[in-house]
Amino acid sequence: MEMDRISVADEGVQSRRAPDLEPIVITEDLWKVYRSGKLEVAALRGVQLEVMPGEFVAIMGPSGCGKSTLLHVVGGLAQASRGRVLLDGNDLAKMSDGERTLLRRHKVGFVFQRFNLLPTLDARGNIAIAQHIHGDGFDPHRFEVVTGLLGLSERLSHRPTELSGGEQQRVAIARAIINEPKILLADEPTGNLDTKSSESVLRMLRQLNQELEQTIILITHNPEAAAYGHRVLHMRDGQIVDGVPAD
Ligand SMILES: Nc1ncnc2c1ncn2[C@@H]1O[C@H](COP(=O)(O)OP(=O)(O)OP(=O)(O)O)[C@@H](O)[C@H]1O
Ligand SMILES: [Mg+2]
Repeated sequence: MEMDRISVADEGVQSRRAPDLEPIVITEDLWKVYRSGKLEVAALRGVQLEVMPGEFVAIMGPSGCGKSTLLHVVGGLAQASRGRVLLDGNDLAKMSDGERTLLRRHKVGFVFQRFNLLPTLDARGNIAIAQHIHGDGFDPHRFEVVTGLLGLSERLSHRPTELSGGEQQRVAIARAIINEPKILLADEPTGNLDTKSSESVLRMLRQLNQELEQTIILITHNPEAAAYGHRVLHMRDGQIVDGVPAD
């Protein structure tokens, strides 16, 4: 039943009529307040964001300004304290934990600074396992396209310890997008990489965006990395500050 609800929104009449006009992500006055004991930290303070299908959006900002929190809330890993997130038309606050988990599995790909690959599996296994978890089984065509675009075709039988950092991150990206998520959320994916590997990862993200029309939100500290996006947004103190006059 949970699946039905998700697929209804996915194949909704509205999105069929105007597939490119509905944002994949909308946040409205999004707040996230962390409470530990008496201490409260407002990590998000009214974020307004819209991301259209096919966009590659970079988000920059100083440490602690709420970038990771925003990505977690948008991707359904954490709940908002106030405001709304619409992910491909689904209001995350109105879903049960189980429904949110399914939505995440079907519509969101995550990449983090740490690669989180399974050490006992080779690259092929690390990517294919995501297709099995997804439940639709192995899709050889998609596998070939994604691993080809990420330059992994010759590395598929290597285990993580036999791969460079850049290659490991590319495996993690392949795993994240193998099931054709509506959006890829990447939190400092080049944070652990040297300049050369960073560039290759960023180039490939751009290629995934251009050739597979993969929608991407990229979080980074690095202006050169952010420049790979179509649009660069700046966060400060829990808000997106672009276009907001300084006080
Ligand atoms: N689980 C948590 N519990 C309490 N406070 C938290 C938690 N996670 C984040 N915070 C606080 O919320 C604020 C935003 O953190 P967040 O991790 O989103 O920042 P960031 O912009 O991603 O920083 P960085 O660039 O260092 O990764 C910070 O003040 C942080 O200390
Ligand atoms: Mg962070």
